[in-house]
Formats: sequence, C-alpha cells, structure tokens
Amino acid sequence: MRKRILSLLYQEKDFVSGEALSKKLGISRVGVWKHIQVLRKEGYVIEASNKGYRLISAPDLLLPEELVELDKKVYYFKEVSSTMDVARKLAQKGEEAIVTAETQTKGKGRWGRYWHSSRGGIYFSLILRPTISPSQAHLVNLLAGLSVAITIRKLFNINATLKWPNDVLINEKKVCGILAEMEAEADIVKFIILGIGINVNNDVSDYIKIVTSLKEELGKKISKKKLFLQLIKEIEKMQPYLANPQPIINKWKRFSSTLGRYVRIIIQNKILEGEAIDIDNDGALILKTRDENLKRVVAGDCIHLR
Ligand code: BTN
Repeated sequence: MRKRILSLLYQEKDFVSGEALSKKLGISRVGVWKHIQVLRKEGYVIEASNKGYRLISAPDLLLPEELVELDKKVYYFKEVSSTMDVARKLAQKGEEAIVTAETQTKGKGRWGRYWHSSRGGIYFSLILRPTISPSQAHLVNLLAGLSVAITIRKLFNINATLKWPNDVLINEKKVCGILAEMEAEADIVKFIILGIGINVNNDVSDYIKIVTSLKEELGKKISKKKLFLQLIKEIEKMQPYLANPQPIINKWKRFSSTLGRYVRIIIQNKILEGEAIDIDNDGALILKTRDENLKRVVAGDCIHLR
C-alpha cells in the first residue's frame, strides 16, 4: 500500500488530496494518514495541508518503495546480522530476491573475516540461479567486481580497478568487497548468494591507509539509490555471459590492477608468490613463480607486492 501511495505522490509532484488518495487506494482517509505516518518514520518528508499531501523528499535508503523499477523482490532491514544469512534462507525457500541492510551486526567478509558495516554504506545480497556448474561458480566474483567497477566509472568518472579475485580498488585502496556463497547439487549450482559491500557515504577514517569510500574520493555524499540501481542493471546485463564467460574475462583483464604485478597469494596456510600473468576462462589466476613455473590458483587472498 505504501508503495502505491508513494507512486501517486511521485507522479503528482504537487498536493494530492486525502480524498483522492483514499478513493484511488480503496482505503479510508484515516488509513491514508496512518500510512503517511509510517512513511515519515522511514525518513520521507511529506507535507500535509488542507490541500492534501505533498512529497518533499525521500530518504536515500534501499527501501523496496524506492526500488520499484527492479523486477526482483527487495527486503530491507535497518539492521540485520548479515544479509547473506537472510538471503540464504529465502533462497532455500525458492525465492529470487535482493536483501539490503543499512547496517549489519555480523557482516561477513571472505575467509571468515568480519565486514565492518557502518551506516552510509551499501550492503546487500542477491540470490542468483545461473545454469552453470559448480566449477564455474567462481566467475560470479569476477562478474560482480567488474559490474561495480563499471558502475563507479560510469557514474563518477573515477578509475576503479580490480584486484583478483574480487576487490574493487580506487587508487589501490579497497572501496568494495564481494562474497559469493554457493549451494550446489552434484554437477549443478542450485543458487549463489552474491554479497556486495560498498563504502559509499560511511566513515572509513580508521582504516584510511588501505580502505576508501566514494565520499572520501569525491569529497561529497552520493546517492546510494542511484548507485545501487545502476549496479543491479550492470549485473543483470552481464549475467547471461556466465555460461560463456569470455567477454567477462576480457573486460575484467582490461580493468585489472593485478595482472602484470608481483603478488603474494595466501591459500589457507600456503603462500605462493610470483607474477600474475593471466586469468583463465574459469577466472583462475595464472602465476609465474620465481622458478618460471606456471601455477593456476582458483581461490586465495591476493596481496600486490610491487
Ligand atoms: C570481503 O572483501 O571480505 C567480502 C566482503 C563482503 C561484504 C558483503 S556486505 C553484504 C553481504 N553481507 C555480508 O555479511 N557480507 C556481504
């Protein structure tokens, strides 16, 4: 109902009388007023006068009411443990949805690390059901990183680059982290939960040497909604290529800040070092070690050494 009230207020741009709203929505005027109160609590500024209601401004939150152009169901949380856990439960019930949160109390990073999720950032998990085999699932990381980098370049003209496998960097500092969790059966992926965390307007001053935010880079606050909508568009555009990923790999290579560098890869308790020379069709990193051997690395933590 609130979505419908908002869409009427958005359409009109001027006052809409309580009577007109109540007629169009088939609810009482008191009912309309109650919904208006809830919207105000969510952060909408709605003027009320004897002419009716007028929308003055909307909060920059990833609320379902603000994301009506998406054809996926959106779940929004002011605070949640992790959007990954909520999305997994929804996926197990067969849903194809996006779970967004303003903050997370147990934000999950890669390798069991904690993902700091303070207010002002974008934190969401997307349920994907690509028809690919589990061995190709790793490509989702590349697809997601690339989509974020393309979005940042398009909207803000900032040279976002990619660190293998899935960090998005600006001037070598991390602006976005990606976590993909999969549930598979024999040879087929059942679903993938793609979690993306972007430092947008949140404060990163405690980690400023290695982490940045878009606000920090641009010197001003930016619209999370605009960024999120463009990002979902880029992900959807690229998704059909997962089964035949050459275009994703080619573009990823052009955006890469890892290729050509000397890197250290940490795989659980094993360490590999060498020159990152290529990415293969499954998104694995090809390393040339000091003794000139080629090593194929599917997953790991990557540090740029020089
Ligand atoms: C990393 O770089 O370590 C990955 C970080 C992934 C963070 C995102 S924020 C949204 C989603 N929910 C989580 O708990 N984690 C991912």
